[in-house]
Amino acid sequence: MLRELFTLWRDRGSRLARWLGQDREAVSIDARHRRCAAAWEPHLAATRALILDAARTAAGRGTAVVLGSGACLDVPVADLAGQFRQVVLLDAHHPRAARALASRFSNVRLVTADATGMVQAARAAAKSRAPLPCPVPHPDLLGGLRPDLTASVNLASQLSIPFYKLLGRRAAGAAAEAFYQGLVTAHFDWLASLPGRVCLCCDTAWERTDGECLIESRDALEGVALPAPDRTWLWSIAPRPEESLAYDRQNRVAGFLDFAAAWGTKGVD
Ligand SMILES: C[S@@+](CC[C@H](N)C(=O)[O-])C[C@H]1O[C@@H](n2cnc3c(N)ncnc32)[C@H](O)[C@@H]1O
Repeated sequence: MLRELFTLWRDRGSRLARWLGQDREAVSIDARHRRCAAAWEPHLAATRALILDAARTAAGRGTAVVLGSGACLDVPVADLAGQFRQVVLLDAHHPRAARALASRFSNVRLVTADATGMVQAARAAAKSRAPLPCPVPHPDLLGGLRPDLTASVNLASQLSIPFYKLLGRRAAGAAAEAFYQGLVTAHFDWLASLPGRVCLCCDTAWERTDGECLIESRDALEGVALPAPDRTWLWSIAPRPEESLAYDRQNRVAGFLDFAAAWGTKGVD
């Protein structure tokens, strides 16, 4: 606990990161990764492999963009830097370890941004009861950049979480639910509209298990249904005794090598 407080003190994020709570979250992820490194490795390796397999099928070698890069535990930064002219890592907070890693490559750039583009609108809604945007507009994250590869990496299920706190009790009911769901849908629609190859890796369900017995399963995507993924796996995120002695926690993860094609055919049998 003391170590985590010290890390946060040394690595406080920008205003954006603090609004979203992502600098604190980065410290928790780092601490949990240290405790559960062996259990996490198959998931991290599967994510890195998915990104590299998608990269292989990208038509161009100009720009690779990674959304939700965080500490880059699941991002094959060196491989991407070797394959693309420039690599852009986008997150609301780049922890010290990611900044150190990026500084080793002259063609890796860090961009600090809100992947939803909705933080200001949500703060305004929380302060003045202004209505929440409906539908949630697509984010405008890349300016004039035309990526050859974009990978959204274990981000989609995290998008709505900070907004529950940002909006607090002022947002409730159907409008808030539509907003949280809209954040995820807008992310997927926007990804599918990008030029180049789009790779998506995200949690689809959060589960508590006791051996073979499923105790609880919660949807991780605000009710947004995904088409059939290319790959699925389990992320053993909190094996006993990490969170409890009574259960293990695991995430169901979906991987898409060509998300634009999959999302475009959504709903078609
Ligand atoms: C589960 S972590 C992904 C793990 C990360 N790829 C790694 O290897 O450490 C989710 C990441 O999404 C980022 N994130 C969550 N909401 C965001 C937002 N609205 N805009 C940008 N990044 C966001 C967090 O800062 C965090 O780094």
